[in-house]
Amino acid sequence: MEVAPSKCECISFTKSRRLTSKTTVCDLVLNNSNLNTSEIIRDLGVLFNSSLQFDVHITQALRKAQRRINMIFNVLRSVRELMEISFAWQIKPWLKLKPLWYLTGYGYEYDKHLAVVTDFTKAVIQEKWEEFKLFHVDGEAKDKRSMAFLDLLLEMRSEGLLNEEDIREEVDTFMFEGHDTTSASMGWTLWSMATHPDVQEKVIEEVDRIFGSSDRDCTNDDLKQMKYLEKCLKESLRMFPSVPFFARKVEQDVVINGETFPKGVRILVAPMVLHRNPRIFNNPNDYNPENYSEEAIASRHAYADVPFSAGPRNCIGQKFAIMEEKAVISWFFRRYRVSTHRKFHDNQMLPEIILKSTLGFPLKIHNRHDLVNM
Ligand code: HEM
Repeated sequence: MEVAPSKCECISFTKSRRLTSKTTVCDLVLNNSNLNTSEIIRDLGVLFNSSLQFDVHITQALRKAQRRINMIFNVLRSVRELMEISFAWQIKPWLKLKPLWYLTGYGYEYDKHLAVVTDFTKAVIQEKWEEFKLFHVDGEAKDKRSMAFLDLLLEMRSEGLLNEEDIREEVDTFMFEGHDTTSASMGWTLWSMATHPDVQEKVIEEVDRIFGSSDRDCTNDDLKQMKYLEKCLKESLRMFPSVPFFARKVEQDVVINGETFPKGVRILVAPMVLHRNPRIFNNPNDYNPENYSEEAIASRHAYADVPFSAGPRNCIGQKFAIMEEKAVISWFFRRYRVSTHRKFHDNQMLPEIILKSTLGFPLKIHNRHDLVNM
């Protein structure tokens, strides 16, 4: 079904916050017994661009990093639990009755994990608020250019335009819309690489062409050069869209393809089905990054694939998501390769609020320079 862009304007967003996680890239690294703790911390530091200094303060830095990582993993675990409970709430209508919600234990679990996540967000905001006060002289930011999104929100708080709760809601939205979607997408990308060694080699060639053997940070310019990796990421999102479906409530009668959708009905858009349409993609069940060559993109409707949704309430983090994934995945392939003993199609989509995989991601991570492991 094709939806003309103008028709989408009258369809509004049905809001449901997604709180999720299953196998993350962090899980992959942590579960890999070939790596020791300091390697893990160093690589997570590199992957997430933390400023760990491996010099005379190494022990202190490692301990601090370990504490922070532990805290982040607790939060991720709680987010994962919240997502599973939220999904149960959606598919088991009786849980909407408060007594049953609590009698079944779901309610208590939900409240417990929500508190872990909320406390974390509050701590992040508090830490930033302290920094904000330090770096503001007479209410003026010392350097507006380096202000991040949270700094802007805090500035609005200092001007009395937002309160603490408003800020927490915004931060929660960004943290939860932002982390599990990209994590799922990177997991599926690594899975696709492991099962398509020829594609993986091309990605490694591209990464080596850009970075050589250097350990330097990734720049904006480097990201622009990662054209092949970008195609691979988009192809992963086509086959395994992190948000498998989303809904719209029709605000006024609308005709799409000769069918009338009356005001008030809800429409479920399912990228995980739409993206496998053989009328749009040749061999839609095959992983083929060339589906994202310039010619292929130009030959189809702009809404033929919508991993980030479309229209007025589409994903505001989409550019950032692709940049983040390029930065992380290119770091990964500077050092490692992945393989698996399973077949590509053994791993099926498991639609939850964020798309999961039936097998998780059973990958083996090999140091690129350690051929014995292969
Ligand atoms: C691969 C990664 C991502 C995918 C596939 C994705 C997908 C989506 C989709 C499909 C929607 C619309 C949902 C709907 O209509 O119900 C959405 C909304 C949103 N996304 Fe993303 N997203 C990703 C990453 C991110 C990141 C990294 C951020 C922030 C840093 C982010 C922030 C948001 C926000 C704030 C909204 C709500 C926009 C609104 O309601 O107007 N997303 N995302």
